[in-house]
Amino acid sequence: MQGIQIIGMGKALPARRVENEAFTQMVETSDEWIRSRTGIQSRYFCKEERQMDLCAEAARKALANAGVCPEEIGLCVVATITPDYHTPSSACMVQKLIGLPEDIPAFDINAACSGFVYGLEVVSCMLGSDALKRPYALLIGAEKLSRIMNLQDRSTCVLFGDGAAAAVIRPSDAHRFFCRLGSQGNAEALNAPGAGYPELYIHMDGRKVFQFAVHAMENGIRLLAKETGVSPDEVDQFICHQANERIIRHVQKKLKLPVERFFMNLDQYGNTSGASIPIAMAELMEKGQLKPGTKAFCLGFGGGLTWGAAYLEF
Ligand code: ACO
Repeated sequence: MQGIQIIGMGKALPARRVENEAFTQMVETSDEWIRSRTGIQSRYFCKEERQMDLCAEAARKALANAGVCPEEIGLCVVATITPDYHTPSSACMVQKLIGLPEDIPAFDINAACSGFVYGLEVVSCMLGSDALKRPYALLIGAEKLSRIMNLQDRSTCVLFGDGAAAAVIRPSDAHRFFCRLGSQGNAEALNAPGAGYPELYIHMDGRKVFQFAVHAMENGIRLLAKETGVSPDEVDQFICHQANERIIRHVQKKLKLPVERFFMNLDQYGNTSGASIPIAMAELMEKGQLKPGTKAFCLGFGGGLTWGAAYLEF
């Protein structure tokens, strides 16, 4: 079966960095509470930047990193729950902003923090289709969560951040790809109401999502191992959704896997939902830790509730 290869990545962050200390002016919280409960130290919030600007900057960097021109892109997908418009989609705006061809599909995926993993599966299926006339796909994970955050709600406002990262992907027989996705309708655990609702902000029952998250990650690792025949001991990088250090540590310890194979950067960015896995991947690539032959398990979970587990070879 044809696989996929990520041949270039790029990330984009807003200019404004916000330290934990800033929240002590808005709600009853402390740097110590935020660090010890989540591992987060700072995050980035957009000021002037639109979500589509982050998408475009990440996409341009990924194209440069891959050595691919906009004219060679055959598909543009953005994973996001915070597009600037319901329509046009962020993917359509990226098409315009970076000059992608006009005869290619461009659309958004709404699967919250699992969105990039959902996107990998969608891209892998579509790259095999005759309908795509060009050889590469652009997959972006991007969020402007600060737009839907209630700065009076301490249980959510300290957790999230804005950012984006993009991947240029091509079909490849030499790089295996395997993915499993899931969902269960549950607005009580997490929701971000749309237009027409009186409440515009994200609502989350942190404990419920925590329980779902550890279960989804553990199951995802076991499922990938069973279906791919790749044992967790052979996996070089576990690239997890960056929501909470305690969730990642819990799973790593329970499965008795080496701590250094679970990359973490949520201390700097907070939870960037659909952007968190690609930002982590882009940083691993920058650090030279996704070398040819690297085997990775990607694990996403979040609003929906959704989950996604993918096996990638670099
Ligand atoms: N500062 C100080 N105290 C706080 C804060 C804060 N910022 N937030 C909550 N508290 C209080 C609570 O009110 C509670 O007080 P109480 O005991 O008097 O009621 C106490 O701290 C403990 O609250 P818990 O919710 O039990 O804290 P917990 O240890 O579970 O940590 C957290 C909360 C960090 C949200 C955790 O549950 C978590 O990470 N959940 C998963 C979130 C996640 O993964 N989301 C991903 C999806 S996001 C998406 O899809 C967009």
